[in-house]
Amino acid sequence: MAKTKKQIIEDLKLIDIIVEVLDARTPKSSQNPDVREYCKNKKKIIILNKSDLADENITTKWIEYYKKNNIPCIKVEANTGKGLKDVIKQIKIEGKEIKEKYLKSGRTGRSIKVMVLGIPNVGKSTIINNLAKRNVAEVGNKPGITKTKQWIKIDKEIELMDTPGMLWPRLNDESIAEHLAFVNTIGENAIDNEQISYDLLKYLVENYKEKIEKRYDIKIENGEEIIDIRDRIALKKGAILSGGRINEQKISDMILTDFRTGKIGRISIEKP
Ligand code: G4P
Repeated sequence: MAKTKKQIIEDLKLIDIIVEVLDARTPKSSQNPDVREYCKNKKKIIILNKSDLADENITTKWIEYYKKNNIPCIKVEANTGKGLKDVIKQIKIEGKEIKEKYLKSGRTGRSIKVMVLGIPNVGKSTIINNLAKRNVAEVGNKPGITKTKQWIKIDKEIELMDTPGMLWPRLNDESIAEHLAFVNTIGENAIDNEQISYDLLKYLVENYKEKIEKRYDIKIENGEEIIDIRDRIALKKGAILSGGRINEQKISDMILTDFRTGKIGRISIEKP
């Protein structure tokens, strides 16, 4: 962790603009507090990625929230490339001042240097590959492998570091750890899926009741226990063990996967 941080600080010496990638469903939890320190003398753009999975109205509110705080924020769907043109446009806007400074000091021809950073699984590699229009960063890559960094020209005047800055999530805060587990930022082995699935279902019933009713074709009574709702979903989905008991693991995994793949609909976990 200390090594990664040192590496990022070293790399940032070369960087003009930081692109911080957050998960649009959990912008608060996917933000790393160190970034503020990294950005002291840099310009920053926030990408709310996986916006195809997030609640559109809430994503709009997040964008307004960041704009109010003078941070340009753009929603992106990195796997389809939607929104990335706006990112390039914003980099150019932010880079204008930097370019003028370079020109004044006689450094003509210096391009704007950009680095993408964020916690694991927010889509950094997918963004880099999409901007580079080829595979330079490994999607689903695990931290710890060092390779020589290269610059990718993504525009006449913009160069992108091909290796994303890997930040660590703040797992010491319980609600952050829970939200990151919902969206699968924490490795599957590290969490109790049945508990996480229960907590997620509780959140969904409280905030997106109609979506749950529609997905699983059930009617949820006011005040119905979450465990009873889960068991009714299990019965509908045939997650039953021999003898008629509920297959808790199967139904827990199913609810988590349905949420993570967007089958329950577009859902946000955090509001500004
Ligand atoms: P990272 O570098 O930040 O660690 O993330 P990476 O690009 O490896 O992306 C993590 C997963 O998220 C990948 O799925 C990728 O396809 C998916 N992803 C990235 N951007 C988007 C997006 O805008 N929308 C959606 N729906 N998915 C996106 P994966 O390889 O299947 O991994 P996993 O999700 O099974 O862990």
